Amino acid sequence: MSNDGVNKGRRRLLIGATSAVGAVGAVGAAVPFVASWNPSAKAKTAGAPVKVDVSKLEPGQQMIVKWRGKPVWVVRRGDEALAELPKISDRMADPMSEVPQQPAYIPKTPIRALRDDIIVLVGICTHLGCSPTYRPEVAPADLGAEWVGGFYCPCHGSRFDLSGRVYSGVPAPSNLVIPPHFYESENVIIVGLDQENA
Ligand code: FES
Repeated sequence: MSNDGVNKGRRRLLIGATSAVGAVGAVGAAVPFVASWNPSAKAKTAGAPVKVDVSKLEPGQQMIVKWRGKPVWVVRRGDEALAELPKISDRMADPMSEVPQQPAYIPKTPIRALRDDIIVLVGICTHLGCSPTYRPEVAPADLGAEWVGGFYCPCHGSRFDLSGRVYSGVPAPSNLVIPPHFYESENVIIVGLDQENA
């Protein structure tokens, strides 16, 4: 094969690879930008933090990153979903997050976040440790007419809202954990570190 033939072959391969990445993006699977950060020695001891770019995360989309071997969910909530959160507080076991399942700097409000639209949660059920499923739909047949979007744990049926607050009367005893995090810039979150320890 001539050099030209080889180059053409390579070009085809590159185009193919690019198309494959494009296809993943097109079906809405949010491909997170996750990079290892350059942590301090103190941060390394605690488990390296991860950097998450949420600039391409659309309302309703979820990104999953790994921190200390655990899934961490980053979800952008749309205006309608945010408006529902205060309305369903009376259905929650700990609506104002009195149980310390989050760093002290997270507002103890139905929004439960540093930035209203973005929620950051450890994706592990507080019952027996399964990973709940993201169910952003409103009133799906299997979850009932009152479901306004949230997380459902298929293991024993625990339900959480889009702030990770646990519904009353389910096996899980507490809200989902919010990991330490802060915004390095408008759209870049550092997960695994408090701002003062960065
Ligand atoms: S582990 Fe989630 S409900 Fe039991």
